[in-house]
Amino acid sequence: MFKANENYAKLPGSYLFSTIGKKVKEYSNAHPDAKLIRLGIGDVTLPLAPSVIAAMHSAVDEMGKAETFRGYAPDLGYEFLRKAIIDGDYKAWGVDLDIDEIFISDGAKSDSGNIGDIFAADNRIAVCDPVYPVYVDSNAMSGRTGNYDKASEKWSNVTYMPCTAENSFVPELPKERADVIYLCYPNNPTGAVATKEQLQKWVDFALANGSLIIFDAAYEAYITEKDIPHSIYECDGAKKCAIEIRSFSKNAGFTGTRLGFTVVPKALVLDGVSLNSLWARRSGTKFNGAPYIIQRAGEAVYSEAGRRETREMVAYYMNNAKVIREGLKDAGFDVYGGVNAPYIWLKTPGNMTSWEFFDYLLETVNVVGTPGSGFGPSGEGYFRLTAFGSLENSLEALERIKNMKG
Ligand code: MLT
Repeated sequence: MFKANENYAKLPGSYLFSTIGKKVKEYSNAHPDAKLIRLGIGDVTLPLAPSVIAAMHSAVDEMGKAETFRGYAPDLGYEFLRKAIIDGDYKAWGVDLDIDEIFISDGAKSDSGNIGDIFAADNRIAVCDPVYPVYVDSNAMSGRTGNYDKASEKWSNVTYMPCTAENSFVPELPKERADVIYLCYPNNPTGAVATKEQLQKWVDFALANGSLIIFDAAYEAYITEKDIPHSIYECDGAKKCAIEIRSFSKNAGFTGTRLGFTVVPKALVLDGVSLNSLWARRSGTKFNGAPYIIQRAGEAVYSEAGRRETREMVAYYMNNAKVIREGLKDAGFDVYGGVNAPYIWLKTPGNMTSWEFFDYLLETVNVVGTPGSGFGPSGEGYFRLTAFGSLENSLEALERIKNMKG
């Protein structure tokens, strides 16, 4: 007799951004004239770069001719894209990687959710709190997180590492067991960054304890300050303990196009097993590769024009971040992030809970953000705004929030 995966029944509510989407839809249906400004989910708004579009057009034409038509993509990705990534990103940071250490995928969300396929069922995960919900939810689905306690909003088998203003949103090393440690820098949702020294401590910890680090670097293109590491492999020994996940969504606007990659170094051998081989085995079995057209689009991001155009996109969003950040500061809010990341993390005013502030903003000024507590218990009392809207909408949202406060 069929039995459903009972771990799913333990998950509280729906996925954070699905819950928000539903709430906003309900409000919008009830108030059809409301001019909503959506600064909730970190979804880009600028069109794809011209060189990316040109590459897609030309790849579409290739698919229409027998001589250049492509069927299944190689399951681990086309070499032209893997090489562009190594030459275009990692070499510039002094990191040497081989082509077969890069695994092309349909995005960082899928990879960060799927990577748990290669962990033992009884590994204990450690996460920053607040955290991108995919890491915890996907481990909960695999039965790795124990039971969920509604009162504390925590899972019994997860090590939570609080990230608050007091520790500049970079957690202390865990005191409990941590077999798999998820880190995301520049951070979603707090917008914080970790210095190389701080990251090195994590790498040293992982090496000393036989732990694996999953490093989510989806926002590395938003780093504006010098000396902030773009890759965990800038740290000594990281190839022996870390997997890095990257995305084309935020640096090149591929949220709807879907493309990402994961780096699994061959030196990463834990418990006597090569994680590169495990991930290749998993990908070969469950994935047929990102589409050729999209991989050509990804390659174009690394062309000279592609680099210039995507840098301009990032600069546009970072100007929004600055505008929102400075504007909220002037209005008396406690504001974090927005300097090396497209997220602004603020304290809710008047001791409102995160969800109270979400409702208040939605109902009084029609601005949508993301409640900090949706990312974990230490996010309570905080709120996230994204810089991925238009400049006009960012300015308008700011004015509305300022007036609301006054
Ligand atoms: C976010 O808003 O946190 C992100 O857009 C979600 C994602 O990248 O999947």
